[in-house]
Amino acid sequence: MAATVTFDESALSQLAATADRATRRNLIANLRRMADSLEDTVGTIHRYGHIDLEKAMIKVGLDLGIFKVLAGADGAMTADEMAQKTGADPQLMKRILRYYNTINVAREVGPHRYEATNITRNLTEEVCVAAMGHYYDLVAKQYHATPDFLKQNGYKNPTDETNTALQLGWNTRKPPFELMLELPGAMEHFHVYMTLRRQVALSWLAVYPVEEETAALSDSDSDSDSDKERPLYVNVGGGSGVQCAQFRDRYPHIPGRVILQDLPETVAQALPTPGVENMAHDFFEPQPVRGAKFYFMRGVPHNHPPQRVKLLFERIREAMVEDSVLLVDETVLPDTGVSFIAASIDLTMLGAFASMERTEAEWRALGESAGLELVRKYEYNPLEHETVMDFRLPRRLNI
Ligand SMILES: C[S@@+](CC[C@H](N)C(=O)[O-])C[C@H]1O[C@@H](n2cnc3c(N)ncnc32)[C@H](O)[C@@H]1O
Repeated sequence: MAATVTFDESALSQLAATADRATRRNLIANLRRMADSLEDTVGTIHRYGHIDLEKAMIKVGLDLGIFKVLAGADGAMTADEMAQKTGADPQLMKRILRYYNTINVAREVGPHRYEATNITRNLTEEVCVAAMGHYYDLVAKQYHATPDFLKQNGYKNPTDETNTALQLGWNTRKPPFELMLELPGAMEHFHVYMTLRRQVALSWLAVYPVEEETAALSDSDSDSDSDKERPLYVNVGGGSGVQCAQFRDRYPHIPGRVILQDLPETVAQALPTPGVENMAHDFFEPQPVRGAKFYFMRGVPHNHPPQRVKLLFERIREAMVEDSVLLVDETVLPDTGVSFIAASIDLTMLGAFASMERTEAEWRALGESAGLELVRKYEYNPLEHETVMDFRLPRRLNI
């Protein structure tokens, strides 16, 4: 007879409730490793075999509004009540909810009675809804096409951004940002996800010494018209413009122009922020804003293979003056122990753009290929290896 194994779940819950982010992440990784180490063949078949079903049923829940209804309820709800609130057939709702109980998206508390879990609540967050839209509506076809793509290309590491798994999956030659423009809601999902995925407290603004670097610009003696006119912060490929707004909000006293640059279609939808100039610019073309203090890019070069990043960096280097800084806000992979999220995004970049996440040595070499020196790096989110790197023109030797 099978023994029922019990363990002190409440002690674990207590530890989890008081643990910081890093400890919780570590706990999850260890518990998953332990669960996987116990898995038999049947378990492996059904875990991978039904992996697409899991995402599909999350999409159904989002479309029906199941998570909002359940998370907003005052306690548990019956499947019939859920059916009534969402407009789904009661029998269908019973089948969906009993499946959700098995993946912890809802908790069964009695016959056909369910309550919300932390995951139900996560799935009501705007960032989660946008991210699921992005992965389900756009990226899923790319993942599906990846095995055929790699086979057709002889399992070479892809570096040609005009021939990708995403294009194979969508049967198109268009680059991803052009394709997204054609798919209803795709750009919106993407930008909402990009914008909300990070908070100011866990961003480059929390670690980079902006005041120190701009002391010469903001001291009152030099608060001249030329300082006010000088571009202070140019966010290249800045997306929705939220980061420009955050920068202006945090440093209203530092003189100089704050400029958002992106493709015309994105700039047309960008946040209008007083004190921020929104400018359409293709970053592979010569940089029109010359001599800025900071050129900044977050999550941009990782979308491009090395030869394109070299060009992108060169375009900025050509516009830099002696005290300019190119800030590259990206994942910097460690040599070992890369996180699940970073390793997954690396392979997602492979399929979408023939691109990659990079180690410090790879970033340094890319900078050097474009005539830039990696001077320092500031890690602000060690769990995801998120880091802002400070590239400058090479220092002249005083000979
Ligand atoms: C991964 S998103 C990052 C957006 C933003 N930096 C952020 O962190 O939220 C890449 C951005 O690069 C923009 N982009 C792509 N190709 C571009 C190009 N050739 N010129 C200018 N912007 C481009 C996209 O529109 C998108 O906003």
